[in-house]
Amino acid sequence: MNQDITGARASLRKAGGEPARRETGAPRATPEGAPAIAAESRSGRQPVPASMTIFGAGGDLTKRLVVPALRHLVRAGKLPDQFALIGVDHNDLTTEQWRRTLAETMKDSGADDAVDKDAWSWLVHRMHYMRGDFTEPETFKRLERLLKEQQARQGGAENVLFYLAVADRFFGPIVDQLGRAGLARQSENAWRRVIIEKPFGHDLASAKGLNARIREVLSEEQIYRIDHFLGKETVQNILVLRFANGIFEPLWNRDHIDHVQITAAETVGVEGRGRFYEQTGALRDMVPNHLFQLLAMIGMEPPISFAANAVRAKKTELLQAIHPIVPADAVRGQYGAGTVLGKEVRAYRYEPNVAADSATETYVALKLGIDNWRWAGVPFYLRTGKALAARTTQIAVQFRRAPYSLFRDTPVDRLPANILTLRIQPDEGLSVSFSAKRPGAEIEIDGVAMDFAYRDYFPPLASVGYETLIYDCLVGDATPFQRADTVEAAWCAVQGLLDAWEHAPGNDLHAYAAGSAGPDAADRLIARDGRAWRPIRSSHKRFEPSA
Ligand code: BG6
Repeated sequence: MNQDITGARASLRKAGGEPARRETGAPRATPEGAPAIAAESRSGRQPVPASMTIFGAGGDLTKRLVVPALRHLVRAGKLPDQFALIGVDHNDLTTEQWRRTLAETMKDSGADDAVDKDAWSWLVHRMHYMRGDFTEPETFKRLERLLKEQQARQGGAENVLFYLAVADRFFGPIVDQLGRAGLARQSENAWRRVIIEKPFGHDLASAKGLNARIREVLSEEQIYRIDHFLGKETVQNILVLRFANGIFEPLWNRDHIDHVQITAAETVGVEGRGRFYEQTGALRDMVPNHLFQLLAMIGMEPPISFAANAVRAKKTELLQAIHPIVPADAVRGQYGAGTVLGKEVRAYRYEPNVAADSATETYVALKLGIDNWRWAGVPFYLRTGKALAARTTQIAVQFRRAPYSLFRDTPVDRLPANILTLRIQPDEGLSVSFSAKRPGAEIEIDGVAMDFAYRDYFPPLASVGYETLIYDCLVGDATPFQRADTVEAAWCAVQGLLDAWEHAPGNDLHAYAAGSAGPDAADRLIARDGRAWRPIRSSHKRFEPSA
């Protein structure tokens, strides 16, 4: 079955056109006869002939995510027929060897059915490998020749997407070289775009420095800074949930919301990335990027349209409104030995390439305030960590409790709060908890929930999460990419905390057992406000009472 990876969005796009394809047996997302909603004018969203050059063609990211995503795009018919994929890396490989290594990875991932094979063979015929040093002008001269050859074959299409799937120290040098070789120059008939992977800087100064450096070569509209969380369907759905429904927005403010919790819990440890992680830590690795993107989408004001800059401006404003985070509102932790999902896990300090006395945090919990009219006084609690009890990324919006007075003379001693939980992954969906009368003569209240699970409504998509990102870049839609000011606003919000922690390394580093829900200090951080974290579970319970 040829799955349409953008199936859900297609129903939005096809306003007035042919009806969206539906899998038999699956309930319809839109009731019969309901008007389709045009999320934005999507005309011109079919990719034009182009070449894509991946720097870091032999790397893990290319193998695990970029090339599998391309294969899914082929399956979905979302790549232009005139397409070339050029891989550049330091290793001495032939095109044939490169193709074979990628094919092996593909087999390991089990993606091997007949349709996949067709998609793969479509792609293989368009793949070329070029050995080259990312810092040598010679590499870029040869690349220019190779691109010209491809362009000649594709009937002259000169559009090129450069994908920087390399270590961050190469971002600046590669963009410099693209500039020197004239490869970043656009013309009326040819666009040149550059996807830059994470991490974009390691603090505010380095992010600003990198922005300034690449802006000497590229205009902002040529730069596509990746935050892969924005490629997740459930993250993209946050804006649809908020702005395509009438029931949430009137309640979405300090008058009705008590607090918000954002959790990104992982069961994995550092997985052989000890060297990288020692320099990074949980705060840099997850907060100014992934967690802040979730925060921005939950908290932003409505944009005037879904155009990239309209959305990104509102997200940036929200991040700019974060109060400076003080150490008293932050907890850092590091995992010790323990058991995760039934498997014994060694302490972080025993991971390869990790110092025996490492003070790097593998867990962070924060309390944030947003300094604007909508959110004044509403705390946002964020937490993320490695080697925790379960893998779950979720946002819980807890509403203010109803007044109790009416129930004073009943057996009810407490009214639970309503909570809207957005399950970003796994078990994607959302639920709203509320109170219901337990059947019987007395007034007794029970907590119940309304639940929506993606799998009940939409066919599963073959996706590694990078499909939409690559596709959107090919069609020139920068909405799911970070703008320079967004990245800088995010670093700015955490810079004070980074400085404070650097000056007191390990002072307040709290140990937690691998497989637990994190350090006790994180529970105290939220308990001092009379609140409690949502439990960390991978499969959700239909109803989870508020604390
Ligand atoms: C990456 C971090 O950006 O995101 C990793 O560097 C982390 O440490 C990963 O594991 C989490 O992403 P996902 O999509 O697996 O939740």
